[in-house]
This record gives sequence, C-alpha cells and structure tokens, in this order.
Amino acid sequence: MSSGSMMGAPPSGMKKAASAGPGGGGWLEALYFSDGNRRHTLWAGLVKRAGRQMEDGSMSQVERQEHWQGVYTRNATDEVSWFQMHPIVSLDLIHASDIQPEDRLIDVGGGASTLVDHLLDSGFRMVSVLDIAGPALAASRSRLGDRGATVDWIEADVTTWHPSLQYSLWHDRAVFHFLTDPADRAAYKTALNHALQKDGCVVIATFALDGPERCSGLPVVRYSPESLSAELGPSYRLEQVEHEDHRTPAGRTQRFVYCRFRRLLLGGE
Ligand SMILES: C[S@@+](CC[C@H](N)C(=O)[O-])C[C@H]1O[C@@H](n2cnc3c(N)ncnc32)[C@H](O)[C@@H]1O
Repeated sequence: MSSGSMMGAPPSGMKKAASAGPGGGGWLEALYFSDGNRRHTLWAGLVKRAGRQMEDGSMSQVERQEHWQGVYTRNATDEVSWFQMHPIVSLDLIHASDIQPEDRLIDVGGGASTLVDHLLDSGFRMVSVLDIAGPALAASRSRLGDRGATVDWIEADVTTWHPSLQYSLWHDRAVFHFLTDPADRAAYKTALNHALQKDGCVVIATFALDGPERCSGLPVVRYSPESLSAELGPSYRLEQVEHEDHRTPAGRTQRFVYCRFRRLLLGGE
C-alpha cells in the first residue's frame, strides 16, 4: 500500500463508515478495511467538526483531540500540508545525534508521518510514536503492516502524558509550535524532562520566524534557534540548526527551522 492515502477517499479496500452521533455537532466515524472474510476496524470514535479555540488560540485537551481526530478522518494522510514522503532533514539530524540501533527513540506528535518507516528501515528497533489523534496512528500501523508490530504506539496528549520509559532521542516536527499557551509549553517541557535521558538529544522542528502564522486552521508560535533555546532552558545545549523550505502537497512553501539539542549531563532539570 502506498504511503498515506488512508483517510478521505480510502483506496485499496480501505473504507470509512459514518453515522449520526449523539448530538453536539459530532458524528461517529470508523476506519476499516475488509480482507474478503472479515471487516477489520482500524479506528473508531466520535469526531467533531472543529475544535473551539480561546482568543489566543489555546485549546483544551478535549478540543485539541477533537480537532486533530477530525483532521485525520477528513483528509488523506498524503494531502495534509505537512506531509513528507522522505523526512530527510529529520533523519539527518537524528543520525547526527549518534543514536544507536538499540537506543530508544520517540516521535512526538508523529501523526501519520513516514518517519517511523524510515527509522525501522535504518535498523532502529525501539521506536515509539505518540500522537493525540488515534486515526493518524491507525493509518501508520496499517501502512506498516507486520513491521508496525514492534512499534510502541501511544495515543496521548503530550501536555498531560506521563512517560513510563526513558528515551535517547525525542523528535517533534510541527507540534511544539501549536502550544500558544505558556502553561502548555511548560507541561510539554515537564514531559520532555521526564522522558529524555541525560545526554540524550531532542530534535524540534517549528515554523521559522518567516514561516506561516497558522497551520491546520490553528495559530502557531514561530521560532528562531535562539528563542527555541530560551524555551528549553540552560540544561539543553544547541548542537545543530537546519532550515527547510517545505513544499506542501498543494505547492506552497513553508519555512521550517530544525534544532537539535543535547540534554546536559549535569545541572538543572
Ligand atoms: C502538523 S502535524 C505534524 C505531524 C508529523 N510530526 C509530521 O511531521 O508529519 C501535528 C501533529 O501533532 C499532533 N498533535 C497536536 N497537538 C498534540 C498534542 N498536544 N499532543 C500530541 N500530539 C499532538 C497532531 O495530531 C498531528 O499529528
């Protein structure tokens, strides 16, 4: 099965089923495929039309989850603006961190990204993918088939997640920049500090200062390497910066900045 294309108009036997929900503008929706004998449900849940936002763009956890579940049930995974067939800059930064195949790494807000496919191809055996949207994780699981069985799929909001494992590397492309509320950013950093081992690396990609002001209908905070460093604080040393002019499937260009930090062995959080 080709990468993505699992939502919206599902190809290759993938089907969407929808029924009227219990009111409130929502509906029950399921993603499933049939192998001729059985119907296999990939994901089922209540989807709302759009998350409400506060004036500063911040959302409650429920609103955030409804928003992202809706995004992945309404759109094909290879048509969303952030889609990349080959996440080259992420992979370069991950490999530059000297992480070894037996090390544990996590893609936070990985959605239906193909990064996990490439990490498995590169020989990494302990890969976790966390996302608030179950349908996104279901799409990646389905795309990977048996190969996805070794992946630790975590459906959670990173701002309320309590990590039970320690990771050598944390990757986030286009998630942190949605946290417009300082309290959410503090909660994200609490999760990061619990999850990332000392001397581990964190790769964060956000829209750059001259990047878009919104994504997926939501406002974002744009960063420079300096402002992102200030967010993470003195226990993280900036080791590498890359820029990317991401070409969206619709043909627009979005400027990203990627920063790789190493968590210091000594000091602070
Ligand atoms: C712009 S997409 C990027 C997806 C992926 N990282 C990529 O580069 O293709 C943002 C992703 O973050 C997820 N997300 C947004 N807020 C989140 C949160 N608070 N916790 C976990 N995931 C979140 C969304 O469901 C979505 O998959």
